[in-house]
Amino acid sequence: MKEKIKQNIQEAELYKKFKRISVAEFFERNRHLLGFDSPRKALLIAVKEYVDNSLDACEEYKILPDIKVEIDKLENDVYKITVEDNGPGIPYENVPEIFGSFLFGSKFHRFISTRGKQGIGASAVTLYSQLTTKEPVEIITKMKDKEKGIKYKIKIDVKTNSPIILEKEEVEMKKESGTIVKAKIIGQYIKGKQSVDEYIRLTALINPHANITYKNPDGEKFVYKRIINDIPELKEVKPHPYGIELGYFDRLIRETKEKTLLNFLTRTFSSVGQNTAIEILKKAKLDPDMDPKNLNDDQIIKLYNALQNAKLRAIPSKYIVTLGRDIILKSMENILKPEYMAATKRKPALYRGIPFIVEVGIAYGGEITEFQYYRFANRVPLLYKPGEDAITHALKEINWKHYGFEVEGEFPKDPMAILVHVASVWLPFTSESKEAIAPYDEIVREIELGIKNALRELSIYIKKKKALETIGDKYKNLYGYGLEVIDSLSSILDIEKEKVEGRVKERIKKELVNDIYEILKSVREVKNLLKEGKDDRAVTLIKNMLKDTVKINLLSEKELEDMIVEVINDVKKNKLSLLS
Ligand SMILES: Nc1ncnc2c1ncn2[C@@H]1O[C@H](COP(=O)(O)OP(=O)(O)OP(=O)(O)O)[C@@H](O)[C@H]1O
Ligand SMILES: [Mg+2]
Repeated sequence: MKEKIKQNIQEAELYKKFKRISVAEFFERNRHLLGFDSPRKALLIAVKEYVDNSLDACEEYKILPDIKVEIDKLENDVYKITVEDNGPGIPYENVPEIFGSFLFGSKFHRFISTRGKQGIGASAVTLYSQLTTKEPVEIITKMKDKEKGIKYKIKIDVKTNSPIILEKEEVEMKKESGTIVKAKIIGQYIKGKQSVDEYIRLTALINPHANITYKNPDGEKFVYKRIINDIPELKEVKPHPYGIELGYFDRLIRETKEKTLLNFLTRTFSSVGQNTAIEILKKAKLDPDMDPKNLNDDQIIKLYNALQNAKLRAIPSKYIVTLGRDIILKSMENILKPEYMAATKRKPALYRGIPFIVEVGIAYGGEITEFQYYRFANRVPLLYKPGEDAITHALKEINWKHYGFEVEGEFPKDPMAILVHVASVWLPFTSESKEAIAPYDEIVREIELGIKNALRELSIYIKKKKALETIGDKYKNLYGYGLEVIDSLSSILDIEKEKVEGRVKERIKKELVNDIYEILKSVREVKNLLKEGKDDRAVTLIKNMLKDTVKINLLSEKELEDMIVEVINDVKKNKLSLLS
């Protein structure tokens, strides 16, 4: 705790020093803090900042998002990015500040499960654009109650961190409301794990309520259609004292309109009631009626410490937006097309008094060809800095062999995709560019437990599947052996060769079917799917499990179908005891 406070004080002092240069100037010198540290990453971050904003705006105004993203390659590594949404539009008078000055936003330090937070994203793209191509960004936006839309071209005056308006005009816009943003930046378009293509695919995966169309610089078009119509509900909560750094606390005190310390504490923060506040003030040796503006630095630190050490209730977890188990399964099925899936949503847990929720989905086989994991923070895919991230830390804690996986390096060789979503009204990131979730012990531990829950379910399936393969091998050998002795058998027994062959085959087949049957009827997922009326999925699941087993050609397509129908009927009639 002491260490933490010391660090906070140092940070606060640093913060005061930096005030002498403008924050835009600071970011101009330190653009890596915003994620713009290489051309390939810059292209991704620029798209991401705009798409995050579009999704946030739609959500806040309860609009089902229709988002269009287009990247065009112009000459000399210059790319034009266009992001269009059907959101509420941006208040016309705020457009310049939003895109032309840092720390201007509507989500700053609000405790709410939005993607954006700091009022940095939009202006960061503007800054990068003017640094690399000298071009302004273009914004066209229309609000519902306005007859016309408005178009702006904007740059940032870095010295003063204020907008430069190069163009401003009214425009016709057919849409009821929405925003189009365009930026020209120097970038590099790549394919693969850290590409914009992948970012868009994963954004669709974690936002199944959004329609997203995307055209990449190669002219390929991707259409992700929404599969659910529920708009995540954002609820706002006042900040919790445990989640606040000293520097920010200091600012809250200086900017508050409250006239007494007692009101400041109870009205600014959640979980601080009248009695608690009085006790905290007593500990800090401060008068509840004192004007917050009159506190000196020493008193501010004392009050901060008293707040941090007080026993406070946590923020209720209803403020956290998650997808839930069913939607994760549905979305994984839609985008990843796996053979088998498992998912889990953990109960809320706390870090520093702030609640967060971990959800995990695992998709196995099917169109997935290798081990991979996808990191999500408040429904935003994270593609960079995996090494720093709490999710990677947790994955490294897993004893994969224990779940029956063959490990190569750190992770299993099996074809599976692990989706981990960490959601909170206040997520700790390792830097301003929000690329990695800080690996706090409490968070890592929760993620680990979530992964283990889902793995347990998956490993049962895999064990059954492996058992089926073993049986397949066993009968393949048996049949091969049978064929070898058919000649001798037919002459010893003096029976026609075809008949002997027929009987050997029949016999082996019967036992094979029995063995398969025993395993299939104990697969819990088959039962679950049938219970939910998803017969088709149950049939597909069984067929997938048998894929390798039936390679031995002992069973015809028809015999296989018959057997599956029989298993399904049995399970449905509930005649069998399903142990798994
Ligand atoms: N497409 C949009 N539609 C409506 N409002 C928008 C849109 N884009 C940005 N805004 C508004 O502009 C504000 C500033 O956006 P910006 O990306 O700079 O910061 P942020 O999203 O609040 O935080 P972060 O820095 O974490 O991205 C947002 O808070 C939002 O109110
Ligand atoms: Mg943003």
